[in-house]
Amino acid sequence: MLYQHTIGIIGAGQVGMAAANALFQQRIANELILVDLDRNRAEGEAMDLMHAQGYVGRRRVRAGDYADLAQAQIVIVTAGVGQRPGEDRLSLLNRNAAVFRQIAEQLDRHAPEAILIIASNPVDVLTYVMQTLSKRPHEQVIGTGTMLDTTRLRTLLAEHYMVDPRSVHALILGEHGDSEIAVWSHANIGGTPICGNSILGKPYDPAQMDQILTQVRRAAEEIIARKGYTNWAIGLVLAHLVRTIQEDQNSVLPISVRLAGEYGIEDVCLSIPVAVGLRGAGGRVPIPLNDAERQALTTSAETLKRCLHSLDL
Ligand code: 2OP
Repeated sequence: MLYQHTIGIIGAGQVGMAAANALFQQRIANELILVDLDRNRAEGEAMDLMHAQGYVGRRRVRAGDYADLAQAQIVIVTAGVGQRPGEDRLSLLNRNAAVFRQIAEQLDRHAPEAILIIASNPVDVLTYVMQTLSKRPHEQVIGTGTMLDTTRLRTLLAEHYMVDPRSVHALILGEHGDSEIAVWSHANIGGTPICGNSILGKPYDPAQMDQILTQVRRAAEEIIARKGYTNWAIGLVLAHLVRTIQEDQNSVLPISVRLAGEYGIEDVCLSIPVAVGLRGAGGRVPIPLNDAERQALTTSAETLKRCLHSLDL
């Protein structure tokens, strides 16, 4: 068997394994390499997934070291400590930035060409950190950003309107965190703008839309308070991103990238609509924002910049 599609996953914890499971079940890669400080754990996880080959066909999952990532086209970084109940993503920063320094060195040595997808939190800051520490072009280091928040928003809107979430076109941009913004000016159900329209018997109700956005913003906190971490939805986000890159789809997705003047913002990573393909982040698709949305995006950028300035890179 020729192993052409090798994906590395740094961190065999809940997020890494949810991604591995999604990649495995969707037959996206034919070789997954799990790198974790706890080699035993990575081996156990690899064995467990491998035993499901009877249902998905031949593919390989194994534990490895950074040196085993030489053939990986894409490496997913989930390593780092997770959020504690009640802790916001930004306060994780200094704990995770130190871990990233070591990861960047190892990845530059062993997988210098790979596209890196960052999922560790705070994801926007850590995407910027990895771009700064790694020698590869910034476009090859992307963060999952608000893809997760966007699927949460689409899910909740779909429940509200009782439609397929895939017919809900709505975006969350900015920080993956409290300052994120919903782009209501473009949100639509099957082409009909949500703002101002009654859709499928539901009148437009701004207060209800605000409530839905609050639920999206608090989703991680609510889940962490109950189960201690979040993993399933981000696992599917990661699998979707890997497929998008591998197939060179140029799908437009809200991922975290470094801005260089878009929306008057620069030198910070946050989510905007970007065409994603084989080379990672491609062209930016400049969604026209109204004044309030633009202002909120600027505020989100300022929040993230304050965190970056507290770092010594
Ligand atoms: C989430 O939003 C914790 O960032 C993670 O689920």
